[in-house]
Amino acid sequence: MDVIIKDDYQAMGVYAAKCLAEVIKRKPNAVLGLATGTTPLATYNELIRMHREEGLDFSSVTTFNLDEYLGIGKNMDKSYLQDQSYARFMYESLFKHVNIDLNRTHVPDGLSQDPSAFCEEYEAKIKAAGGIDIQLLGIGGDGHWAFNEPGTSLSSRTHVEVLTQQTLDDNYELFYRKAGFSRDQMPHFALTMGVGTILDARALLMMASGSKKASVVAKAIEGPVTSQITSTAIQLYKGRAIVVLDEAAASELKNKEHYLHVEKVKSQFV
Ligand code: GLP
Repeated sequence: MDVIIKDDYQAMGVYAAKCLAEVIKRKPNAVLGLATGTTPLATYNELIRMHREEGLDFSSVTTFNLDEYLGIGKNMDKSYLQDQSYARFMYESLFKHVNIDLNRTHVPDGLSQDPSAFCEEYEAKIKAAGGIDIQLLGIGGDGHWAFNEPGTSLSSRTHVEVLTQQTLDDNYELFYRKAGFSRDQMPHFALTMGVGTILDARALLMMASGSKKASVVAKAIEGPVTSQITSTAIQLYKGRAIVVLDEAAASELKNKEHYLHVEKVKSQFV
């Protein structure tokens, strides 16, 4: 695992965008695993800038998002509602600003009539697309990846998840309150890629920012591996995992000095 520590949120976002852009340049028909939340916004803004100013081409790129609330979402074109779906978030934050083909973008369908069948189809679609080349990840306040809440098997596949009180509180504050929704309008269930689905990606790029994430980041990358904190599965990952943090999110890492040293040595010799 490479732990990269950047000065601030903006620098973290730019670094992650460069990693994604490298994959797209090397493989124009790359399959990207995408994430929602406030953390990846700087990354998406930088990708939009690269598209506009440097011609970063998304026309052959395919995307699969990690998760979606159950009960909202679906079409991310003009017809979709003013909801707080992740489909809408992706459309507003990235897709409508770049030359991506919306038919190649996939966000779990929160309005599916048969969520379990949908989860199986989602797995099949990822497989049919050739698997995910690089998966972008944030980390929830309870240490979750996507919506894999405490207790989810570390080999789980795409499934329906019951959200924890902490996740509901965090996400209500971040998104729902601002949009004028009441607490009881917030979905309590979600569709989410499983931890095993995420671990199948050919590279992982996990991001975190801010002091509120410092303790859970330290647990995720330095604590014992446990299904109680599903992001600890990064320690089991076989491929290349990059963790990019800002200073505040890195502040509780025991081995911070070592990670900085490794980064310095690698930048000189690699
Ligand atoms: C939600 C998403 C996660 C995301 C997390 C953190 O729970 N399902 O994928 O990592 O929020 O969000 P933020 O980046 O806003 O802290």
